[in-house]
Amino acid sequence: MRRVLVLHGPNLSLLGRREPETYGRTTLREIDEALKELAGHLGLEVRCEQFEGEGEMVTALHGALGDCQAVLINPAAYTHTSLAIRDALAALSDLGIPSVEVHLSQPAARESFRHTSLTAPVCRGSIAGFGPNSYLLGLRALAAILDREVRSDA
Ligand code: DQA
Repeated sequence: MRRVLVLHGPNLSLLGRREPETYGRTTLREIDEALKELAGHLGLEVRCEQFEGEGEMVTALHGALGDCQAVLINPAAYTHTSLAIRDALAALSDLGIPSVEVHLSQPAARESFRHTSLTAPVCRGSIAGFGPNSYLLGLRALAAILDREVRSDA
């Protein structure tokens, strides 16, 4: 079974209560449930994890090695600051594990300090601004990448 690591960054544990005008009312648990359901339809399995700390996120990315074939990541605020998460994503990419970055909001339409993503350039692509649907679209993108790459390996 192809498994995708879904990795949520800091403060996303508060979704549903956190700045609902920006992030909506859907909780992280509801997002994870929707991802599990979609994964079933796409012939994938998801392993969902959330961490507040940068180091924990790097450790979780290392944990994908040998266990997951792809990563769906919302690095949250670390998107804009974390060289360590970028380097971990680059290492995974180099080892054949593609990542897609997602955001609930559209950072490009927000404060200027959110306009730079250190992590997006080492991901296959980014999906932002569609609320919880960003995650579902991201999972579909990864399913297409995995399908294509498994076919071209055959
Ligand atoms: C976010 C956008 C980031 O700028 C912010 O720091 C977050 C959430 C999003 O999903 O819209 O925590 O990643």
